[in-house]
Amino acid sequence: MATADIQAFLDDLYAQLQPLRQGQLACYIPELAKANPDWFGISVVTLDGRSFDVGDVQQTFTIQSISKVFVYAMALEDYGREKLLKKVGVEPTGDPFNCLIRLDEDSKRPDNPMVNAGAIATTSLITGQDPADRLNRLLAMFERYIGHEVFIDMSTFLSEKATGHRNRAMAHLMLNFGMIDEPLDDALDLYFQQCSVLVNTHDLAVMAATLANRGINPITGTQAVDAAHVRDILGVMYTCGMYNFAGEWAFRVGIPAKSGVSGGILAVVPNQAGIAVFSPPLDSHGNSVRGLKVFEALSQEYGFHLFDLSLGRCRFTAALGEDS
Ligand code: DON
Repeated sequence: MATADIQAFLDDLYAQLQPLRQGQLACYIPELAKANPDWFGISVVTLDGRSFDVGDVQQTFTIQSISKVFVYAMALEDYGREKLLKKVGVEPTGDPFNCLIRLDEDSKRPDNPMVNAGAIATTSLITGQDPADRLNRLLAMFERYIGHEVFIDMSTFLSEKATGHRNRAMAHLMLNFGMIDEPLDDALDLYFQQCSVLVNTHDLAVMAATLANRGINPITGTQAVDAAHVRDILGVMYTCGMYNFAGEWAFRVGIPAKSGVSGGILAVVPNQAGIAVFSPPLDSHGNSVRGLKVFEALSQEYGFHLFDLSLGRCRFTAALGEDS
């Protein structure tokens, strides 16, 4: 049975990679250093709502930078593509995620929404009557993708708020150069809150499957985001989602993806599946070590690379279809 083969492939991959002891936990946000380096989950959700899960897929963790994709999507809906492009670019930086933005008085915008500067600028644009209204809109947005109520981990939020001096410095630099507007504290609080949204690996795979399914959550049938924006969201994930590993990732794995410092990676195989991996130890780029290896193997096995997909070499539908 083919779906049994998919599950067996994931089970084998999990067993092979579980003993790996490379990478370091993120510790610049003190709460993240409390993670268990053995946590490891892989989840694949198909567009007809089937799921293949292995490991600690129900273990909750904070979404961190993966939130940037979804807040960018929200800003696209609030402002439209052209207006948003004037505020936040789409150029990969080749720099670490927390790099202090390049001080370019001409451009008047941060490079892209996946690095912290661009993400803070994007969050500062989220509309609402007051901070509570903006937070409620943001939580409602996450709930459309995930399909159930979401919560913020207060300890992580407070931990990041207390130690986020670098992000605060970036916000002040952007204010100085006219890239964002006051009040900065509200924007930074909302940014720290979006990073502290609690998810598990299966939730992330459902979120990814929603983007793979033209913005429709395959479990609930809810339109989480206008289909017209999905191409732009995936485009920015593909070029900027894995920070200064984005080029290598595009070459080796070739799936639009986004990583976070808590150890999650979410990846979208358009028209095929949403995939997520969670494993907290990170490499020097801030990407999950086990996560990278899982995606290299999956891309190779099923032909998930975008150029395999467009050349008709994806083997996943066939694998699913044989016993459907
Ligand atoms: O801004 C920060 O430092 C975090 N809240 C998010 C960073 C993050 O996840 C970067 N990802 N690799």
